[in-house]
Amino acid sequence: MKRSPTSCLRPAVLLLAGTFACAGIHAEASGQKGSAMTGTVAPSNAQLASPEIERRVEALLKQMTLAEKIGQLVQYNDQGFSAPTPSNGDKALAANPETKTQVDAMALAKQGRLGSMLNVIGAQKTRAFQEAAMHSRLHIPILFGADVIHGYRTIYPVPLGLAASWDTALVRQLSHMAATEATTAGVKWFYSPMVDISRDARWGRSTEGAGEDAYLGAAMARAYVRGYQGSDLSRPDSVAASVKHFAAYGAAEAGREYNTTDMSDIRLRQVYLPPYKAAVEAGAATMMSSFNALNGVPATANPYLMDEILRKEWGFDGFVVSDYTAVMELTHHGIALDAATATKKALEAGVEVDMMSHFYDTQIPKLLAEHKLSMATVDEAVRRVLRVKFALGLFEHPYAQGTEVTHAVQAHRPLVRRAAEESFVLLRNAPVGGKAVLPLGNEVTSVALIGPLADAANEMQGAWGGAAQAPDVVTLRQALERRMQQRGGHVLFAHGTDIDSDSTQGFDAAVQAARQADVVVMALGESSQMSGEAGSRAYLDLPGNQQQLLEKVVATGKPVVLLVFSGRPLVLDWAAGHVPAIMAVWFPGTEAGNALANVLFGDVAPSGKLTMSFPRAVGQEPLYYNQFPTGRPAGDADLSRPPSGGDTRFVSRYLDVPNDALFPFGYGLSYTSFAYAGVHVSRSTLPLAQANRPDARSLVTVTATLTNTGKREATEVAQLYVRNLGASVEQPVRSLKGFQRVTLKPGESRQVRFELGFPELSFYDVHSHQVVEPTHYTVWVGGSSQATQSAEFDVR
Ligand code: BGC
Repeated sequence: MKRSPTSCLRPAVLLLAGTFACAGIHAEASGQKGSAMTGTVAPSNAQLASPEIERRVEALLKQMTLAEKIGQLVQYNDQGFSAPTPSNGDKALAANPETKTQVDAMALAKQGRLGSMLNVIGAQKTRAFQEAAMHSRLHIPILFGADVIHGYRTIYPVPLGLAASWDTALVRQLSHMAATEATTAGVKWFYSPMVDISRDARWGRSTEGAGEDAYLGAAMARAYVRGYQGSDLSRPDSVAASVKHFAAYGAAEAGREYNTTDMSDIRLRQVYLPPYKAAVEAGAATMMSSFNALNGVPATANPYLMDEILRKEWGFDGFVVSDYTAVMELTHHGIALDAATATKKALEAGVEVDMMSHFYDTQIPKLLAEHKLSMATVDEAVRRVLRVKFALGLFEHPYAQGTEVTHAVQAHRPLVRRAAEESFVLLRNAPVGGKAVLPLGNEVTSVALIGPLADAANEMQGAWGGAAQAPDVVTLRQALERRMQQRGGHVLFAHGTDIDSDSTQGFDAAVQAARQADVVVMALGESSQMSGEAGSRAYLDLPGNQQQLLEKVVATGKPVVLLVFSGRPLVLDWAAGHVPAIMAVWFPGTEAGNALANVLFGDVAPSGKLTMSFPRAVGQEPLYYNQFPTGRPAGDADLSRPPSGGDTRFVSRYLDVPNDALFPFGYGLSYTSFAYAGVHVSRSTLPLAQANRPDARSLVTVTATLTNTGKREATEVAQLYVRNLGASVEQPVRSLKGFQRVTLKPGESRQVRFELGFPELSFYDVHSHQVVEPTHYTVWVGGSSQATQSAEFDVR
């Protein structure tokens, strides 16, 4: 199947007139727009759509040889390409001697046949390649891309942790900060944001995204893209985003990496696509195809995703890069018996750039010669790549800008420290001796600090801290020792055990330290590489013998604060029943230790809220609050509440574990308490004709009073959930449709306010149409997905 030529592009005359043949409704506050399925098509990306850019693209295209054109469609790293060893049944590679040749990236650059490069780190290196390209016949610059996912040199929390801040303004600031650092090394393209919804904690890449919810995921996606690209892509400190992995990669069956995904169109559109769509609407210049197959068709050769949805419905003008060797992997998927077919399928589906497969460069000439591929398809792909390069101002400024950043930037530390503080989620804070364990008070003069993550600088940088330098990291041990010294106290440090070990050698010293201290802080959890790509786990406990160590230390009777470092939800059921204070702290980044000390000692009150449900047992996975009802609900029909006991057998439940999460989506404590009251809707009925219009906004206003009922100032994330009953297709028991961070002094009250319009009230019907139907709506406002204060209205 052939994809369409540029869907919204772009007779210059139309552009000049300011109208597009397929232009539709413009972005609103929520950032959502109508889709083709609702009769509208998104307008072209403003940052890429300029008559001047189009003129330059066409002029350049006319001068290019076939080899130069193909060059724009391939991507190598500085090692070039060495053929992978053919794996199980890789007949395509084995039968294709040409695809096995070595590729010298520098030689290609000199010939003007290397369009982009990945993960070339350092200004000197990028300059060498760029100089070669700029001396080539047509002087087309190389676009340097890198996996800058949670910081370049100054590292902030892994995206799952950062999402727990629910602070989109902060995400935008951090993304811009990362761009200012990386552009000094010539990197102008980030393989980020990763916007895959993940509802299965076994999937290691959960750490790279915003968690399980489509609405929050979309908000985060917009924030990243806007932070990276700014309002002007051609600014020296802007980078192009590559939104990944398109699409539905997070639904990998059984949480096993690279596994297949299979789902209804309703689920695809309602749960998995919203963040990608939001990113495109925010102007994302590029996308990355995913490794998985979706409903039997690998994403990298999936015209429904790439052409129908991305280009035709959403009006995407940028280009799509394959994931690493994903074009070659089409042969492993079994939908291409040879390299030529894989190339044809990927390119025609809409994957313009081949990352590391070495297929496009070897196969396109042959496919053209045999008339199996049209030159128009190749030209269109090249056009899209050039468009992004022009928009980035690369032709004018091909080299790294400013003084190269090679270490964490001092001036960026306060921001990444704040990000870490906002990412921590206080899961439990029970009283010991009549007083909550946290924050640590002045009476604490000795702290036992125990665990393999207490002094592990490298681990703090998370799964994608690649370009960062471990010595720049402040560990918890360093920060705590400094802090206790200032207070005239001391820290008793014991490593206890390694992250994944069965040696109990360090246990005794750990127990000794605990016995001598007023309070114990345990730094336990995963290594940073236990999540991230290929980081699937079938068990979600503390790895190795850390649980054993925890139990031994708790048995001393000392108050214990458990800090859980992880890239995903872990099963903490024992700890939840035995450890008074537990905080999820993810992988906090360069300022890990200082941020942790600030929160432990109460300079900062925790405000993070979970964006993935923490299960009671692995067997509950995939586990998410936004589930569909069943015909036999256990307990409350709204399954986001705990089931009501085990006396009924024939209901939808497990025999051995409750249905609900141990710590649910949206949940998180602070050092104060908050109360919600008076949830109110501005109208009790809403006419259908008014609601069922893609551009309808602010149809119903939901208000509630939020009060800080505790003793100190703190920030709460107020959340709005919606359910509608009576629709043609069943709807989730509740769905997040709004949130805001509110800082209140003790005793202070504030009205929180949310607007509901078409984007929030609509859903996808069996025809994949986004619609509002006459249904009954319940809205809840509260501090987690288990909010209890509600109000109702009808659409008639
Ligand atoms: C990952 C991508 C990453 C790419 C380039 C792949 O293996 O799936 O997320 O951007 O490599 O490093």
